Parts: sequence; C-alpha cells; structure tokens
Amino acid sequence: MKKILIQFDTDEQPSTFDRVVAVDAGAEELFSYGGISGDNVTGLVHGAIFTRGPADLKNTAIFVGGSSVSEGEALMKHVQKAFFGPMRVSVMMDSNGCNTTAAAAVVAAKQHLPLNSTSALVLGGTGPVGQRVGQLLAAEGCNVTLVSRSQDRAAAACEAIAAHTSSGQLQPAAGSTTEEFQALCAGKQLVVAAGAAGICFLPEGSLAALPDLQVAIDLNAVPPTGLADVGATDKAKQVEGTVCYGALGVGGTKMKVHKQAIRQLFESSDVLLDTSEIYNLALQVAGLATDE
Ligand SMILES: NC(=O)c1ccc[n+]([C@@H]2O[C@H](COP(=O)([O-])OP(=O)(O)OC[C@H]3O[C@@H](n4cnc5c(N)ncnc54)[C@H](OP(=O)(O)O)[C@@H]3O)[C@@H](O)[C@H]2O)c1
Repeated sequence: MKKILIQFDTDEQPSTFDRVVAVDAGAEELFSYGGISGDNVTGLVHGAIFTRGPADLKNTAIFVGGSSVSEGEALMKHVQKAFFGPMRVSVMMDSNGCNTTAAAAVVAAKQHLPLNSTSALVLGGTGPVGQRVGQLLAAEGCNVTLVSRSQDRAAAACEAIAAHTSSGQLQPAAGSTTEEFQALCAGKQLVVAAGAAGICFLPEGSLAALPDLQVAIDLNAVPPTGLADVGATDKAKQVEGTVCYGALGVGGTKMKVHKQAIRQLFESSDVLLDTSEIYNLALQVAGLATDE
C-alpha cells in the first residue's frame, strides 16, 4: 500500500520546500492543499481517514505547514478534532520549519553547553524559529532572554512560550541597534540569531568583545548573515574562543530531522510530531538521546 502524505498549508501556495523534503523522505504520493484553515479542513481529514481501514491508516499521514506558526498550531488542533477512535492518521506540524530548525539549533548548542546552567540570548526571538528556540532552551532549563525590536512583542512571545513549558526562565528584552544587541549579548554563554533573512545583528569583530560567549549560532543564511563573525557553513568552528554554527552548519541536521520525522509518521497511525517530539528526534539524530 502506498505511503500518502497529505500536506495542509495555511498559505495559499503549499510550500515547495516541504514538498521536496516529503518526496525525499519517502512519501510515495503527496497531496498538497493550500489556504487551509479550521474552516475547511474537516472534510479533507474525513477524506483521509474514511478511505482506508484502521489497520492501513498508518500508510496515510498529514503534514501541517505554512508561514504562520499560530495558524499552524490552530490547524493542528482542528485536524486532531476530526479524528475519533481508531479513525486517525499521524500528524506533523512544522510551519515555516519552526520545529525542525529550532530543534537542530538547540541540539547543536547542547553538544557544547550544560543547558540547565546556561544563560542564552535569542535575537529575532519573536519569529517562528526564534520562539521555538526559546521554548526548547527554556524546556532544557536555560535562562533565556528573548529579543525583539519591540518590548511588547518580546513579552507576548515569552507569554506564548510559557504556555508550553514551565521550566527554565524566560525574559523579554528590546533592542534595535548594534550597540543594544552587543550589550544584551554580554554575559551570555549562548547566542542564537534567529532574525529575518538578511538581517545582521552583530558586525564583524563582535565575538572578540564577548569573553563569556561559548556558543554562537546564526540561522540566517542570506547575506548579510545575522552574526557577521559566523560563516554560513560553520559547524562547530572556533572563532575567538567561541564555537560557531552557521545556517548551513545547522541546516544539515535540520534536514535529517525533517526527513526522519516524515518517516516516523508512517510507523503507526497515532504519531503526533510537534515541538518536543521533533526535538527528541533531533537528540536521536545527534546521538544525544538519553536512552542511547
Ligand atoms: N538554517 C535553516 O535550516 C533555516 C530553516 C528555516 C529558517 N531559517 C532562517 O531562520 C531565521 C528565522 O526564521 P523565521 O521564519 O523565524 O524569521 P522571521 O519570522 O522572518 O523573522 C524573525 C524575527 O526577525 C525580526 N526582524 C525582522 N526584521 C528585522 C530587522 N530589520 N531588524 C531586527 N530584527 C528584525 C522580527 O522580530 P521583531 O519584529 O519582533 O523585532 C522577526 O520576528 C531566518 O533567517 C530564516 O531564513 C533557517
């Protein structure tokens, strides 16, 4: 029986990135739908769960994507609401690559730092990726400062994260100039730049002025990159005494995690993959899972 992945995208155009990864991960048929919300998803889910018998439903799975994490989260809930008894299929949520990218970034940091005693700064922390990075770091026990250009947006993002995890400490901070970003980085052991593509927070030479910084991760691959001292392809490269990862250095793990997650969807009909489950997969991919 063919493995069918059904892609529900909250954007009008289903993401080509997610489609390519689905095929590369082994989905034999891919049905892609754009402009999906709670208003129009129930019939599509019923179409997915009523066509194959319960024992065969593990060969059908749903991927929720799109550029809005809040819409993706709401859609994920609507999808699950349409299930009942054994009439269900596995579901993964990764709007804007938020879960797979954040999971890959945090496992990179975890390879070098005891996260439960680390002070971390997330620049561009209000975006889909930054919020998930903040959530995973807090869940690991980090003391996390989430930065936005707006104190209100940073505070709203911290509040949203706090609804998902009670561990760690989270505080919002505002900054919009190089000097403010540099001052916020002082005393932190970990900095993750998760700003929009092409946004540079720290110019060249900044790492040398941050003696406490042990790990710097830049997720923006589009020039100018988020941390000018970090090269896009850096992977655990030492720069001025700091271990650096660039967007492509993290991207390899992200792609492995994304593909592994798609494969896992087809193992049974009741797999649910959201932030913590995808992080657990990333820990396995990085050889950091505690049961290994
Ligand atoms: N390496 C990978 O595998 C991978 C995968 C997916 C995404 N990415 C990259 O990860 C990064 C984060 O993705 P995302 O989708 O979360 O990003 P995003 O939503 O486009 O932007 C994140 C945050 O950047 C801040 N920002 C926007 N313009 C800014 C400016 N001019 N100055 C300072 N801050 C600014 C915004 O925060 P405020 O408005 O609150 O200040 C925004 O919430 C992107 O660079 C993306 O390309 C990498």
